[in-house]
Amino acid sequence: MVRLNFSDSGQGTPVVLLHGFPLSGVIWMPQQRLLSDQYRVITPDLRGHGRSPAPAAGYEMETLAEDVLALLDDLGIPKAVIMGHSMGGYVTLAAWKMAPERFLALGLLDSQAAPDTDEGRKTRNQLADQVAKEGSAAVEAAMLPKLFAPNLDAKDPLIGQVRQIIKTTPRAGIVGALHGMAQRPDASAILAAIAVPTLILTGDGDQLIAPARATAMAAVVANAMLAVIPNAGHLPMMEQPAATTTTLLSFLSTVGNGFA
Ligand code: MLT
Repeated sequence: MVRLNFSDSGQGTPVVLLHGFPLSGVIWMPQQRLLSDQYRVITPDLRGHGRSPAPAAGYEMETLAEDVLALLDDLGIPKAVIMGHSMGGYVTLAAWKMAPERFLALGLLDSQAAPDTDEGRKTRNQLADQVAKEGSAAVEAAMLPKLFAPNLDAKDPLIGQVRQIIKTTPRAGIVGALHGMAQRPDASAILAAIAVPTLILTGDGDQLIAPARATAMAAVVANAMLAVIPNAGHLPMMEQPAATTTTLLSFLSTVGNGFA
């Protein structure tokens, strides 16, 4: 277990937002600001990302989930709404598998339950080797063009912001998380067992995890709300912050009565 860096603002029902790879809690800045009027919003940096420690090993999704649950223990929070973006969603599903009693509600944003294909695993492990040798430029080149909706203006400042986050992600974190994601188990069977309200959200132009994955998951989870954010790719919280925040607020208010 490592002690995670995190932001914590607002009061009320705790809402934990987990970022994807190879990013950090700052991707949630607009949501942190607006949701914290009504909720206690906690945005950790997962291990190896942002300003959290980056050990040389220990990047299984289960280990990342243990760090998050340990953070909740440290904060004295028995139950929270836990939502994850992309890799953060893999961590959320791992946390649900280990400790479903810690969830008030769950969210999967531009994420999936399926594991890597054999081909995908091979490509990921090759990329990890390349980053280990040459640094984060390889992952930046592989991911940056696919993170946004296809029609995003090439001069949009968002591209530079995200590039900067990737550049500051420690090399050990990038390599570790690539290996961790490559070996993550198939979580599809977990979906039907999710017993809390669940938000499944995707950008309509996600080029990394096809929106059809979100539709398929929403069909299996018993108490799911499916939201498709228009004009967004893999990062709707940054590309369309207002629409994403409104959707999160609407989900939280729907399930809110059950929290008291
Ligand atoms: C992420 O955004 O966290 C990653 O793209 C997820 C993945 O590569 O499977």
